[in-house]
Amino acid sequence: MMSKSPRVAVVGAGCSGLTSIKNLVQAGVQEVVCFEQNDQVGGNWAFTGSVGHSSVCETTHIISSKRMSEFEDFPMPADYPDYPSHAQVLAYFQSYADHFNLKKHIRFNTKIAHITKLDTEGKEAWDIELENGEHEVFDYVMLANGHHSVPRMPEFEGSFSGEFLHSHSYKSSQPFAGKRVLVVGAGNSGCDCAVEISRVASHVGISMRSPQYIFPKFFSGVPTDVFAKQTAWMPQFLREPLQRLSLRFIQGKYSDYGLEAPNYSLTKSHPTVNSELLYRIRHGKVHPRKGIKWLAGDKVHFTDGTVETYDVILAATGYKITFPFFDKSFVDYEEADEIPLWLRVFHPEHRSLFFIGLVQPQGCIWPLSDAQAKLTANLIMGRWQLPENLEALAQKDAESISKNFVEGKRHSVEVHFAPYLKSLKRQL
Ligand SMILES: Cc1cc2nc3c(=O)[nH]c(=O)nc-3n(C[C@H](O)[C@H](O)[C@H](O)COP(=O)(O)OP(=O)(O)OC[C@H]3O[C@@H](n4cnc5c(N)ncnc54)[C@H](O)[C@@H]3O)c2cc1C
Ligand SMILES: NC(=O)c1ccc[n+]([C@@H]2O[C@H](COP(=O)([O-])OP(=O)(O)OC[C@H]3O[C@@H](n4cnc5c(N)ncnc54)[C@H](OP(=O)(O)O)[C@@H]3O)[C@@H](O)[C@H]2O)c1
Repeated sequence: MMSKSPRVAVVGAGCSGLTSIKNLVQAGVQEVVCFEQNDQVGGNWAFTGSVGHSSVCETTHIISSKRMSEFEDFPMPADYPDYPSHAQVLAYFQSYADHFNLKKHIRFNTKIAHITKLDTEGKEAWDIELENGEHEVFDYVMLANGHHSVPRMPEFEGSFSGEFLHSHSYKSSQPFAGKRVLVVGAGNSGCDCAVEISRVASHVGISMRSPQYIFPKFFSGVPTDVFAKQTAWMPQFLREPLQRLSLRFIQGKYSDYGLEAPNYSLTKSHPTVNSELLYRIRHGKVHPRKGIKWLAGDKVHFTDGTVETYDVILAATGYKITFPFFDKSFVDYEEADEIPLWLRVFHPEHRSLFFIGLVQPQGCIWPLSDAQAKLTANLIMGRWQLPENLEALAQKDAESISKNFVEGKRHSVEVHFAPYLKSLKRQL
């Protein structure tokens, strides 16, 4: 029998944790405790000059636009630009927490060390062990610990004698002034870093082992995601050629930049949204390079046979999905290409454990976390139920990943924003 007043733990007070608290409280859950290791809300957006949880740098602006990113019940300030800076995003989350009076539910400077599932008399419960050794038991756990803070370092044959860093530790371009820098990867981190570093370095290369679409931040004068929404009514067979034609019209051919063109649909990989990379390439400030074959001292051998010397390699090779507070034998998606969670939230075996924000949309995460948390709060309050065939549905959702996206760990939690939000809203 479900307790009348369930105790719910929320892990992390980034935007996914904040919207979890808000939705739980609004649904009528009385005992909500959010554990946050940091001393403030905002998660990834709580920028500091030193390396910590946050992966944003001094110059980060979001790539999903203001109108497509804001929570539906809390618009971004009218004076914000189309693509706010990390400081504006953090201020927005802080005012969200104040507006909905969420901070009273958060225990700051409190790191969760271990979470254990208790199974007593058929009822699931969760023991949370804090770093200071204290324990507390909860009926439900909402995981909102983020998935962009644990670097996935690449491995190459040979060894490099210069500095070998990950974009997670990139905070500003200054340490790279006057150096020869090779950025590896052309996701949003790689392109942001290559552009910024190219303002101060003596030479910047960007190594791409596979081709990547680079979308501009604006199409036809509006943010790219707004343009995509405006054309969403079109069937895919019409939309795709229109978008390709528009891209070609704005950018020309990839070969004009020394880049390879991807040979798959525009929506099959996570979008890189950057209006400056192609411009910097055509100004001779960023130099496209192929994948890395091997390293030898200060030399990098590329797959096309070229060799160059560098002072620094900056691996912008993405992040690992980790839950360090679980035993690896319990939940471990670190090396998974597909993750079997129904609607990317519900675990087929652990029905009182929820994954909030474990998605990488072609759009913004925040409104999706909001809808996930709303659905979960309804479940906890007994207003909505999990389907009988949860296991089969979770498996189907996992398999849909390789059908819809380029295979690999990079896309293990990728979703198409609009259809995914629709599938959550259908349940709501
Ligand atoms: C450079 C960069 C730019 C990005 N830009 C965009 C964008 O434009 N649009 C977009 O939608 N997404 C973007 N993202 C993705 C980003 O992850 C999300 O915007 C958002 O921050 C996810 O929020 P979250 O709450 O799920 O996770 P996070 O923001 O990572 O928050 C997780 C929280 O959990 C806490 N925590 C973790 N482990 C523990 C523990 N053991 N105990 C207690 N607390 C814990 C952390 O301290 C943190 O506060 C970007 C990511 C990066 C790296
Ligand atoms: N300004 C912003 O708003 C901003 C800035 C940065 C990041 N972000 C967001 O943060 C998230 C993470 O982005 P990210 O760019 O850090 O990671 P990412 O999207 O996972 O991209 C990683 C890149 O590194 C390449 N790569 C991975 N492993 C490699 C290896 N072993 N050798 C060579 N290349 C390798 C990938 O190529 P393959 O395609 O071949 O795997 C890809 O180009 C995304 O959601 C992104 O949108 C946003």
